[in-house]
Amino acid sequence: MSSTAANRPRVMAGMRPSGLVHLGHLVGVLTQWANYSGSADAFFEIADLHAYTTDFDDPAKIRDARNEMVAAWLAAGVDPRTSTIFLQSGIPQISELQVLLAMITPLSWLERVPTFKGQIEALGQQIATYGFLGYPLLQLCDIAIFRGEYVPVGRDQVAHLELGREIVRRFNYLYGDGREILIEPQATLSEFPDVPGIDGRKMSKSYDNAIFISDDEETTTRKVRAMVTDPLKIRRGDPGRPEICPLFALWRLVNPLKVDGVAAECRSGALGCVQDKTDFAEQLNAHLRPLRERYTMYRGDPALVERIIAEGTARARDIAAGVLADVKRAMKLTSAL
Ligand code: TRP
Repeated sequence: MSSTAANRPRVMAGMRPSGLVHLGHLVGVLTQWANYSGSADAFFEIADLHAYTTDFDDPAKIRDARNEMVAAWLAAGVDPRTSTIFLQSGIPQISELQVLLAMITPLSWLERVPTFKGQIEALGQQIATYGFLGYPLLQLCDIAIFRGEYVPVGRDQVAHLELGREIVRRFNYLYGDGREILIEPQATLSEFPDVPGIDGRKMSKSYDNAIFISDDEETTTRKVRAMVTDPLKIRRGDPGRPEICPLFALWRLVNPLKVDGVAAECRSGALGCVQDKTDFAEQLNAHLRPLRERYTMYRGDPALVERIIAEGTARARDIAAGVLADVKRAMKLTSAL
């Protein structure tokens, strides 16, 4: 870690190892992470405990997703020399902090978080556990144990951050004796929080509409050909509406320099959707090629990825231990030993 870490803002974010990394993660989140890894004192977490809140019956999947996910982070430019990549379950201080903060977290605050009822409706009653109810509290502990100030996340996480800020305020009020022992974290939203998938809905593994980093170029091209476009533009010559077209939304993300030309030709009808898809698939594959090469390299070197995780986890644990000690002191939980 560079000696200037103390002057840089502390950034913290996590991702659940619950499947393959796709284009939505890449442009929505990982591009931001890569920037922060050079400019902030950044901590990036493999949120494996969070993955267990919904996938507790499939530990092998969570374990397998870990290295794949970190390989994608590294390929996207998250730099382990200037940021800290770590494993949540390797930091016992996070879990200990969760027990402590659970004492002052009102049940009603957790129950009113929209993702709680929403996810139970979507995934079923089997995830209605004590652990799942505590999901946003655990997320706050991830952040607070490093005194994270900025949290780069998608829009769907803002309610979790709001709850986290309330818990921090309550903690400081009850135990801080006029001081800020913990810091209220702030969400920093990506410029492109919602990336459409091939069916036009938000890109998501569970909708089966994602383009994965691990896809080869042929698969990518096939998926792009299957993309939804303006339903009123049936054939070349018909005027299209780029503003409602998911394919066009992806163009904006992948090659901003070309969007004005594509939009004009789509509107006039000169550009048909079939040609547009062929052009875009080429652009996308070219855009992803260097990243996919790095990804393949990291996938082929699990020892390297494991070493990066182990080193980051050790570094993160040191910092977490210091903050937990402050918390326990404030709560008068320190023993004389
Ligand atoms: N809940 C986040 C998500 O689903 C993942 C996450 C876990 C996280 N811990 C975090 C994000 C801490 C930011 C900070 O995307």
